[in-house]
Amino acid sequence: MTGAAAPTAAPRRPPGPRGGFLLGSLPDFAGDILGFFERAVAEHGDVIRVRLAVGREVILLNDPRSIETVLLTQRSNFIKHTFFWRHVTAIFGRGLLTSEGDFWLRQRRLAAPAFHPDRIAAYGAVMADRAARLDTTWADGDIRDVHQDFMRVTMEIVAKTLFDAELEDDLDEVGRAFDVVVREIAARFRRPFKVPDAFPTPGNRRYRRGVARLDRLVSRILAERRGDPTDRGDLLSMLLAARDEDGHGMPETQVRDEVVTLFLAGHETTAIALSWTFFLLARHPAADARLRAELAETIGDRLPTVADLPRLRWTEAVVKESLRVYPPAYVIGREALADCEIAGYPIRARTTVYFSPWVLHRDPRWFDRPREFLPERWLDGRAANLPKYVYIPFGGGPRVCIGERFAMMEATLVLATIARRWTLARPDESPVTPFPSITLRPEGGMRMRVARRVERPLPASDFAPSSS
Ligand code: HEM
Repeated sequence: MTGAAAPTAAPRRPPGPRGGFLLGSLPDFAGDILGFFERAVAEHGDVIRVRLAVGREVILLNDPRSIETVLLTQRSNFIKHTFFWRHVTAIFGRGLLTSEGDFWLRQRRLAAPAFHPDRIAAYGAVMADRAARLDTTWADGDIRDVHQDFMRVTMEIVAKTLFDAELEDDLDEVGRAFDVVVREIAARFRRPFKVPDAFPTPGNRRYRRGVARLDRLVSRILAERRGDPTDRGDLLSMLLAARDEDGHGMPETQVRDEVVTLFLAGHETTAIALSWTFFLLARHPAADARLRAELAETIGDRLPTVADLPRLRWTEAVVKESLRVYPPAYVIGREALADCEIAGYPIRARTTVYFSPWVLHRDPRWFDRPREFLPERWLDGRAANLPKYVYIPFGGGPRVCIGERFAMMEATLVLATIARRWTLARPDESPVTPFPSITLRPEGGMRMRVARRVERPLPASDFAPSSS
């Protein structure tokens, strides 16, 4: 292993909750993952040892330097193949999200051109167009699960921009299949052990059916493309045109894994970000009013374009702040390949380390008034002084989200497109609970009343920065 320091002579163990004899802290963890992380950090500090069953000990890290060690400086000693990812091999296979080493690097380089800023700029029109289609399905005063709407919009965007595919007829069925898969994954990592996929439990059966449905969709997209292999300049064309040193194309299973990975990684996270963003705006009228004023000044009633982005500064700050308060990827994990040392503690080979953007983003050492929704913190110079690795909604190091720029542009354009015409309000005061699965979905969706904006917007200068 390169770069990892040798264990100290007198090994110390990080502090941590005692937990029960057999299951350790698993019942507390499984019952409330986010609360467990928060309590562990509040009670035990920045490096915490947690036993999640007999023989399964993990380390939670909460200081930016340790996180930098794992994601960047000692990255060759940390792989992604953790307990968490082993649960989802059937779905992601060896795609970009889960592959390792030289193989991952090759695939990442292959996919990179599809995420180049110039290329992404060309996706802007699709993003705004698909969001604007909600104008035809929403009626003034409707109460609806807007999370489902955002899932459809982001699914259509990723399918069109990366694979040049139209999904209209499949959307509902694929959405349901995806939902089943995500729920089963959530159940899986609350268990103390892994049940093999082949074991015919009801959950496994549902999971396999869901994966099979997604596979059918991907097979269809691939078959259509093979029938008309013209280079469309999209990601799928790049994958299909790729040749190894011997001139061989990418195996069909690998193309499948990359397409499924990008399709799934590329839509749910952004849909979740949009749901929480509208939820937060509904609770912070001053921030919403400032958004409305910015949109009135910059785009009026027309669709936003990529050229508008530099002037949609408040809109973008709203997205960034929403990703801070409700990071869709609420936990990131790695497994150590060899013994090493982090923050003075020896870490044994095969130990899993986790860190949680949810906890980091709410740490008062880095963010003042951390539990408040304050988009202005991204505009008033405070963000420039943030230490590295304290705001990591997209991860960090070489394995940072390949879709970061895509997602920020998408979320900003979709938010602008919808908010220029619609106001979303919660129909009642009932809380919305984050449901931690692979990502942090709003439990039970996001019910909102959608109302057409009618009032004349005030100019931006009439609104003091929101602190509500
Ligand atoms: C708000 C939206 C998004 C969030 C919060 C998000 C978050 C993340 C995070 C935290 C990681 C790193 C995981 C780790 O280090 O273990 C990641 C990786 C990844 N994301 Fe995203 N993501 C978003 C949108 C997207 C989009 C739009 C795409 C593609 C169109 C995408 C594709 C990927 C892929 C392929 C990886 C794996 C990259 C690699 O390991 O090389 N993501 N994402």
